[in-house]
Amino acid sequence: MIVILTQLYDIYKGFDMKQLPATPSIEIAPSILSADFADLARHIATIENSVKILHLDVMDGHFVPNITFGPCLIKKIRHHSDLFFDAHLMIDNPIKYAPEFIKAGSDGITIHLESPCDTMDAIRVIRDLGASVGISLKPGTPVEQLHPYVEYVDMVLLMTVEPGFGGQAFMTDGPERARKIRNMLRDDQRLEVDGGIDVGTASLIVQAGADTLVAGNAIFGKPDPAQAVSDILASIC
Ligand code: DX5
Ligand code: ZN
Repeated sequence: MIVILTQLYDIYKGFDMKQLPATPSIEIAPSILSADFADLARHIATIENSVKILHLDVMDGHFVPNITFGPCLIKKIRHHSDLFFDAHLMIDNPIKYAPEFIKAGSDGITIHLESPCDTMDAIRVIRDLGASVGISLKPGTPVEQLHPYVEYVDMVLLMTVEPGFGGQAFMTDGPERARKIRNMLRDDQRLEVDGGIDVGTASLIVQAGADTLVAGNAIFGKPDPAQAVSDILASIC
């Protein structure tokens, strides 16, 4: 009886949770950080049929020097989109808040290696709630620090700008760092890259092994976001 109840609970926990697109594929993940927050549903609708992942940058003003939004906003936009919601938590306490972000409709939670919490506990909490797990590292963090955790995650998120703000320039050591991380990953794990991705940088980073490209300014900063997605994909060779 207990076994059946546990299994039912597991199914309930993961109910309606979307999975990351299967590898291998190149995915563009537009970041709403550059979208029009006063008209967010309409702005997201412009790319709804062009991508599979929507990137949600959560900042708490402590871990990074900027504040964005929390679970309330994610819950609201969940009613307007069927995309995989990829919540990038740039916050001090992901263990405390990850369950709320999942309950609000996030399908994947990415935590930072540098957050002052037990990284393994954070991974466990997210996994137990049925969401996909990502781990991110800032530009100054040696990629070797991923080693203890990398086998337990679905995705690694490599920052190619200092987290906190959109519209910054892509850091040129990104491809070299991406190559090192790709060598640590299994074929079924995604390598996402975030910061300064546009038609000039996308190809470089894909050649280095990235398969999931976050782009804010280069998509929602353009008059035609769907066309901007096509332009980035077309630039990749
Ligand atoms: C920055 C965020 C990024 C940001 C990227 O801390 O994590 O997701 O939106 O913005 P662009 O693509 O404009 O560099
Ligand atoms: Zn991000």
